[in-house]
Amino acid sequence: MQSKVLILDFGSQVTKLIARNIRELNVYCEIIPYNSSLEKIKSMNPDCLILSGSPASIYDKKPPLFDERILDDELPILGICYGAQLISKIFKSNVKKSKIREFGPSKLIKFKNNKILQGIKNKSVTWMSHGDTIVKLGSKLQVLAKSEFGSIALYKHKNKNIYGTQFHPEVVHTPFGKRFLSNFIFLISSCKNNWRPGKLIKLKTAEIKELVGMHRVISAISGGVDSSVSSVLVARAIGTKLNSFIVDTGLMRKDEVKSILPNLKKLGVNPKIINASKLFFSRLKGVTNPERKRKIIGKTFIELFEKEAKRTKADFLVQGTLYPDVIESVSISGPSSVIKSHHNVGGLPKNMKLSLVEPLRDLFKDEVRVLGKSLGIEKDLIGRHPFPGPGLAIRILGEVTQERVKILQEADDIYTRILKEKKLYDQIWQAFCVLIPIKTVGVMGDERTYENTIAVRAVNSTDGMTASWSRIPYDILDLISSEIINSVKGINKVVFDISNKPPSTIEWE
Ligand code: XMP
Repeated sequence: MQSKVLILDFGSQVTKLIARNIRELNVYCEIIPYNSSLEKIKSMNPDCLILSGSPASIYDKKPPLFDERILDDELPILGICYGAQLISKIFKSNVKKSKIREFGPSKLIKFKNNKILQGIKNKSVTWMSHGDTIVKLGSKLQVLAKSEFGSIALYKHKNKNIYGTQFHPEVVHTPFGKRFLSNFIFLISSCKNNWRPGKLIKLKTAEIKELVGMHRVISAISGGVDSSVSSVLVARAIGTKLNSFIVDTGLMRKDEVKSILPNLKKLGVNPKIINASKLFFSRLKGVTNPERKRKIIGKTFIELFEKEAKRTKADFLVQGTLYPDVIESVSISGPSSVIKSHHNVGGLPKNMKLSLVEPLRDLFKDEVRVLGKSLGIEKDLIGRHPFPGPGLAIRILGEVTQERVKILQEADDIYTRILKEKKLYDQIWQAFCVLIPIKTVGVMGDERTYENTIAVRAVNSTDGMTASWSRIPYDILDLISSEIINSVKGINKVVFDISNKPPSTIEWE
């Protein structure tokens, strides 16, 4: 029997991280709405429940509430942050409304031994991020640990397997978080680690078949791993009902189309090449605003997709949307603000006639790579760094011209080649060049030069939601800089981007 964890989602931006942690522990896990009824939950036959955090406060006019009958059941329950506050309130605890957030690291001071804390040392670092605070527990609950500042960090029901934690075990800033979740899942809820990501193929192809029915589907392949994996997956599910194509926007990496075709063909995806670079360049002429660029490119893509859909009589469009794109582009429950309109999500026009097939919408990048591997996609394609839908247009500050794209492609190609030669490419999550079309003075031979600048970006990340700049050794940076300046006409300066996300983003626009 396959073990199953259900997460009741109260709208926290990190709910998916809980799911991701659990799936990494090889336990099947699903996220369901916070207000799912006890009957619905029981019908799904879970081994335990996790209540997520939330941007809401239990003191809001209409706080999101769950079916309290769940607490009378025998299912083990773990409430995280808002989830913990809500449970504690039902058990008559005193939760204090607070305008100031307790935010940041705090040491965990153990009060009582319990299986959920097995293997976790006293004074281990936790990550706190909450407004309201549980100040006194009801008589049926007991404290298991406090924060170093004296607030209740972890509690348990005296007779039941109901736990509440004020810290966030799902974020990397709580280094023992995975152990904590693993204790809850394996020691308290008796789950078995019998879920393998390869099983996603079966699940996803069944989902695609059900969604699409007898309709025809089109898929646009961008050269990135996401669109390739989703297209191969859809091709597996519906075979010849899928028509795929590559829009050559003129904004792709050097020789992109040439390099991805053989791989895809081997996997039964044989995309048609649509050369649309003239159209894209003409529409981007004179446009300098990043959001306008994104919107124009998104709109042009959709027009081409609709044309293709009409030609092939398709009703569905495949998109390689990932979970991080979803939470940064649309507001799930209000407060999460729009950072960029990733054109495969937020930039889609409201009147689009095609329905979407987004088989990767609930996955993180590394999960997509595992899935791709199980599908038989070659390592080179799976290991490619992420590439944004709007392509090089958002890596050229200001106006996008053919000449600028050519300069950027050349620089980027050199950069990528050196990283591969130096065996750094696979260690870096994403690396690329950005063209800053601001001219500075240089000297080459005896000549004065007055040329553009290339910024070299490299980040380490697990999912693109946060990132830190990669420490490329100086001598390799030196090599990159020299080769770009010596071989790419139009560049006389190379700078290295040392900003993290947040507060920066990975792409420059
Ligand atoms: P940011 O710049 O938002 O990027 O920190 C996070 C990750 O998303 C990629 N990205 C995109 N991917 N369409 C995509 O498919 C887009 O419009 C888009 N914008 C950014 C980016 O390359 C990074 O991996």
